[in-house]
Amino acid sequence: MPHTDMILVIGANGQIGSELLAALRNEYGIDKVIASDIRTPGKELNDSGPFELLDVLDKSALERIIRRYRITTIYHLAAMLSAIAENKPLSGWHLNMGGLLNVLQSSVDLGVSRVFWPSSIAAFGLHSPRQNTDQWVVMDPNTVYGISKLAGEGWCNYYFEKKNLDVRSLRFPGLISYKTLPGGGTTDYAIDIFYHALKSKHYTCFLRADTRLPMMYMPDAIRGTLELMQTPAGKINIRTSYNFSAINFTPEEIASSIKKVIPGFSIDYKPDFRQAIAESWPESMNDTQARADWNWHSEYDLDAMVKDMLQHIER
Ligand SMILES: NC(=O)c1ccc[n+]([C@@H]2O[C@H](COP(=O)([O-])OP(=O)(O)OC[C@H]3O[C@@H](n4cnc5c(N)ncnc54)[C@H](O)[C@@H]3O)[C@@H](O)[C@H]2O)c1
Repeated sequence: MPHTDMILVIGANGQIGSELLAALRNEYGIDKVIASDIRTPGKELNDSGPFELLDVLDKSALERIIRRYRITTIYHLAAMLSAIAENKPLSGWHLNMGGLLNVLQSSVDLGVSRVFWPSSIAAFGLHSPRQNTDQWVVMDPNTVYGISKLAGEGWCNYYFEKKNLDVRSLRFPGLISYKTLPGGGTTDYAIDIFYHALKSKHYTCFLRADTRLPMMYMPDAIRGTLELMQTPAGKINIRTSYNFSAINFTPEEIASSIKKVIPGFSIDYKPDFRQAIAESWPESMNDTQARADWNWHSEYDLDAMVKDMLQHIER
């Protein structure tokens, strides 16, 4: 990315945004990266560089910010996540689709050249193969979140093909991190479990013991996002969204890994409505295309991630 680029992060207060923002500022300079969110940021984020309050559904406000800072690249992260959107389907659709379309169209109208937007493993569905799920398979999501991600992938590809906008995207698995709390997704158990392990040595999981899902530690996800965005455009062959994979595990397996560090830890299971959501998603992903096109590889395995999470949360 040229150093003259001006970057806007939308949804910067969130689980991914707060870490991506820090990484982008570290890489490109504090004044080159404008944070924005519908919520006022905490002190740490507020003090870390320029911030604008923005509802991404307000297209005029978005365009004012793009013009004021002469934005050339947007990372659009504002969305309603899977479990919350299932309880508010129409608002979920409105935010997830309306926000993306505002970003794509304003980018074309105002000369923003590059957009990053995350899709999700939720874009797959009940008839998608569940093991080692390939880039190109049947996709029939049955959650409003998944429907919005699949439709969003189509719109990203459309704006690339028809409007020449350099849109790039990753199908994120469940992301595990300790800097902010998760935003209401189906994989949140794999974060909650660490806080309970350290506080009470017991966790009641909202998914069944054997529910396998693709996951990734946040440092891998942030590095992968930067690497994708730094790849020359000619090498990007997927303009819907790349399969993007690191580890996969079940609640039982992450509990065993935690027990290696906290021997007295125990877990029980009370599956709720999120069980059905998890069962409509892949168990593991094939990310051959990301490896081939931009040399993607993950660094953290389950035990390394668990050790690092426990150390940081304890601190
Ligand atoms: N976290 C994960 O495990 C995961 C997995 C797959 C995909 N994703 C995708 O990554 C993106 C970011 O996810 P996250 O986990 O950081 O979510 P999050 O809920 O933690 O953060 C989203 C942020 O967007 C902000 N926001 C909400 N409505 C807004 C609006 N109208 N205008 C501006 N900002 C608004 C929120 O205040 C919040 O700070 C989403 O598109 C999500 O679907 C996340």
